[in-house]
Amino acid sequence: MTESLGESPGDGGAREPLAEVPREGAGPGADPGAAAEMPPESAPTLAGTSAVAVEIAGLTRSFGSKVAVSGLDLKVYAGEFFGFLGPNGAGKSTTIKMLCGLLRPDSGSAKVLGFDVERESLEVRRRIGVLPEESVLYERLTPLEMLSLVGRLHGLTHEQIRDRSGPLLDLMEIAAADRRKMVLDFSQGMRKKVSLACALLPAPRVLFLDEPFNGIDVVSVRGIREVLRDAVARGVTIFFSSHVLELVEKLCTRIAIIAQGKLQVLGTLSEVRSQAGLLPEASLEDVFVHVAGRSGAKRGTLEFLG
Ligand SMILES: Nc1ncnc2c1ncn2[C@@H]1O[C@H](COP(=O)(O)OP(=O)(O)O)[C@@H](O)[C@H]1O
Ligand SMILES: [Mg+2]
Repeated sequence: MTESLGESPGDGGAREPLAEVPREGAGPGADPGAAAEMPPESAPTLAGTSAVAVEIAGLTRSFGSKVAVSGLDLKVYAGEFFGFLGPNGAGKSTTIKMLCGLLRPDSGSAKVLGFDVERESLEVRRRIGVLPEESVLYERLTPLEMLSLVGRLHGLTHEQIRDRSGPLLDLMEIAAADRRKMVLDFSQGMRKKVSLACALLPAPRVLFLDEPFNGIDVVSVRGIREVLRDAVARGVTIFFSSHVLELVEKLCTRIAIIAQGKLQVLGTLSEVRSQAGLLPEASLEDVFVHVAGRSGAKRGTLEFLG
């Protein structure tokens, strides 16, 4: 990544991975909301106070009688690599869509970089990059045309678009021959990579990634992981939803786990572990299953197989 991600971060350093952040737990049964008030040690500070990149208060959204997100409270600090986890249908994508101004909340509020996502959605969109769960690429455009379109929508000059597009597509390992092919012919993984390049092009300060590694091969996962680490080292805040817990454990400074639209635990791995009442050796997967597992659900069997 070159100049395209803007100025360097306040503290100049890469974040510590979640698993290695040596922080005290918040104590068994601790209120995840309490951790929300405490800036992580690794968050860079502006004028001595931790800058809040994303602030969510009482965010709620229903679809008919289905409550997808229910009274969500959360703070993400500038420069964090924040993991936003939950089982299928927990309300992650709905939350991300509301934060990006793509969906209206029913009640509650959210601010991104101090701008209200409803009343100041244009200001928000100018400063963020989004990788949605489903590809929103124009099928009949090539990666280069797609980047050019995104760049122009963000008011970048022709030179800026040209100078950033090449390195971004290099980083995403999109072969030269594929750069002039229509997206129509691309695999899911290649589409994700082009989408991520589009999200990074305008040098966003906050990046929302909804399942960025779905359909991506292991070699590319490694490459993209480094791109994201580099972005965070350059001061970008990442709000990251993923089911690849191993990666979340490696990359994220703090995590939130939601289930049925509600925040269950929030903090560093050691904090969420103790909020879940688990022992220090418990992995993130253990915490996730404990917090999000449907204990009451009846498990089916494969009896019919004999
Ligand atoms: N546009 C929609 N119309 C109706 N129901 C929706 C819509 N979007 C999401 N939902 C429902 O809201 C709940 C949360 O969905 P979602 O935010 O996509 O979950 P996640 O991303 O955590 O898997 C699910 O029960 C889903 O079926
Ligand atoms: Mg989703």
